[in-house]
Amino acid sequence: PVILIHTPAEWNPLWLNHLQKNHTIGLVPTMGALHQGHLDLVKKSIEKADITVVSIFVNPTQFNNQDDFAKYPNTLQADLQILEKAGVDYVFLPSVETIYPSLPNLKLDFGDLERVLEGEFRPGHFNGVGIVVSKLFHFIRPHIAFFGQKDLQQVAIIKRLVNDLSFPIELEVVPTRREKDGLALSSRNMRLSPEERQNALILSRSLEKAKARLLGGKVWSEVQKEIMADFENLESSKLEYFALVHPETFELIQNFSPEEKSSICVAAFIGEIRLIDNLPIIP
Ligand code: PAJ
Repeated sequence: PVILIHTPAEWNPLWLNHLQKNHTIGLVPTMGALHQGHLDLVKKSIEKADITVVSIFVNPTQFNNQDDFAKYPNTLQADLQILEKAGVDYVFLPSVETIYPSLPNLKLDFGDLERVLEGEFRPGHFNGVGIVVSKLFHFIRPHIAFFGQKDLQQVAIIKRLVNDLSFPIELEVVPTRREKDGLALSSRNMRLSPEERQNALILSRSLEKAKARLLGGKVWSEVQKEIMADFENLESSKLEYFALVHPETFELIQNFSPEEKSSICVAAFIGEIRLIDNLPIIP
């Protein structure tokens, strides 16, 4: 059965025991309200590492919107059942006091990586992500950590963090899990009304449409215009960005080339709920 841990003091002797047995440890950081996308990361960890730790912590410092934080879904009992059934070894459930005995003074600056897209529209978000992920890495000391491509810019940020601070941790990126109709799984989907759930398809559909247009030879600025009009025509949707970027540097691309790696990224409000998605274009 899965073992719950709440503090580093509980984890340290377990960690030592696993190291002495030469076990590799995989960490899957989450904010709970688990869905199949999270489970893909968990399965990958179980496959690749001897021991899998899943952390559940709704990190207050990465929410730039207090209402979003207050309404973030909490389904802890269901989450624990899912993780137990999946064969997870440990669930780390730290309190806010354990993670933040005091609010950090440190500010992480990821440079150009955080001046665009999520970084631009969610000030302070990646600082909060970088700090909490650093703390989780220090506490758990995993050999491998698993992140989803759904949050593509977060992946780029964590890669920089691991490089810049020399965390001795291997990163594994897992493809985006979607519903049958294309909607990317997200904990925030639980908050959509049935009508909004239908309207939310505009994100994945606009990504597919834009990719087809680009591969058909249309220039990016024209593609962008077409998609912006689609969002304007959908009542209760509000587009924040629709961008073509290099998937590692997040440099904006103006002149699409099918020979170079690129990703289309989108963020939009559907009613009150902010959703993001992205689609890679692989040469
Ligand atoms: P959360 O949104 O709970 O996501 C946890 C992990 O699951 C992230 O790596 C995310 O990219 C991945 N994930 C979410 N939806 C997915 C999907 N549809 N397919 C594949 N993977 C998906 O991301 C966070 O939490 C936080 O920022 C965190 C890293 C835990 C730091 O607080």
